[in-house]
Amino acid sequence: MSSILLIGFMGAGKSTIGSLLAEKMKRPLIDLDDLITKEIGMPIPDFFASKGEAAFRHVETTVLKDHFTANAIIATGGGIVVNELNRNLLKDHPHVIYLKADSKTLIARIKNDAKNIRPLASQKSAAEITALLNSRLPHYEESAAIIIETTQRDPEEIATEIIERL
Ligand code: S3P
Repeated sequence: MSSILLIGFMGAGKSTIGSLLAEKMKRPLIDLDDLITKEIGMPIPDFFASKGEAAFRHVETTVLKDHFTANAIIATGGGIVVNELNRNLLKDHPHVIYLKADSKTLIARIKNDAKNIRPLASQKSAAEITALLNSRLPHYEESAAIIIETTQRDPEEIATEIIERL
């Protein structure tokens, strides 16, 4: 089987579900944010502050392209669908999984995740985060082959459903 890509907004559980899938399916986990951090040589928030979002999207697009066909579980960053090139790549792939959750759940997860600073969300108001989510919703849906609801669900149950639906 080719790569399995997890997409979805910040706080959707892409890294958590990615680790579980990697363990259950005995496949390597590739976390694109980790690869981007290595590539840029600094934490993501510092890169956003010094170079801006467009420069980040450029690196993100390159890293996705370079690992797209890896035989692995790939956890993407929440903004992977911002770039149209990425959407076009994702929408033709049979194993792109959109981890969907409602805005309230995502905001609570983002705000409770103090270790992971997200430049586009951590310090923003609930209204700003919801607006960003709404602007991206159609892109997640058009890019995904499989949509999984994650609101109020246990990660183990979500991982099991994904494996059944592949
Ligand atoms: C971003 C999501 C982050 C990270 C960066 C930008 C976004 O990843 O790539 O802060 O634009 O949604 P997570 O979805 O893993 O938090």
